[in-house]
Amino acid sequence: MRVVVTAGPTREHIDPVRFLSNPSTGKMGFAVAAEAARRGHEVVLVAGPVALKTPRGVKRVDVVSAREMLAAATAAVDSAPRSAPLAFVGVAAVADWRPRRRAAKKLKKREMSGTLELVRNPDVLKSIGARLRRAGRKDAVLVGFAAETGSPIAEAARKCREKRLAFTVANDVAEKGSGFGSDSNRVAFVRADGSSVRLPLMSKQAVARRIVGEIERLLVD
Ligand code: CTP
Repeated sequence: MRVVVTAGPTREHIDPVRFLSNPSTGKMGFAVAAEAARRGHEVVLVAGPVALKTPRGVKRVDVVSAREMLAAATAAVDSAPRSAPLAFVGVAAVADWRPRRRAAKKLKKREMSGTLELVRNPDVLKSIGARLRRAGRKDAVLVGFAAETGSPIAEAARKCREKRLAFTVANDVAEKGSGFGSDSNRVAFVRADGSSVRLPLMSKQAVARRIVGEIERLLVD
């Protein structure tokens, strides 16, 4: 199958030297891409700015902003062969907002106070889902992540319904040993109806094995 994975944070520049972003390191998304390639799938990894090596056998496309991530993800799904099963796994911590204007030159601090106006970014996962449905690819399996700091299961179920996902991987990023930057993760797989399977704390590689295994199972059914 073709597997398209988004990973890492995005950066939304205010000027050439300042941006809005988040603490995502890309480890979870890179682990998913590595595991899918290890199992012989054709993998495109759309990566925000991270300091990680490209996993073996993975085609990597580097991007900076949410809009660039959407463009690269769109190209990756549009070029997917119709004959092969398709999965899209949104692991990236996409910035939901960007500055309305990006200054071409570094702003002086005296020019900045009260000037930062934000506009909404596109939702990459939701847009890709809508695009695939328009293209008649209802067979595609869409998976999302839900990074939460409270009631992760309920929020993940809502995201599943809103973004029409096969399942959402919920993780509580406020928990010790889990979430941003960590090598391990405690997650739950959550479906749109709110049913969930909680996994114990395990390495991100082990979580990746469970995710890719679940996608393979859904595509066979
Ligand atoms: N996502 C995305 N593009 C965005 C925001 C989120 O593709 N602009 C994807 C993420 O990759 C993740 C899922 O959507 O798979 C959930 O992201 P999250 O930030 O937790 O959710 P939001 O949709 O931003 O929801 P909310 O702000 O309501 O928590």
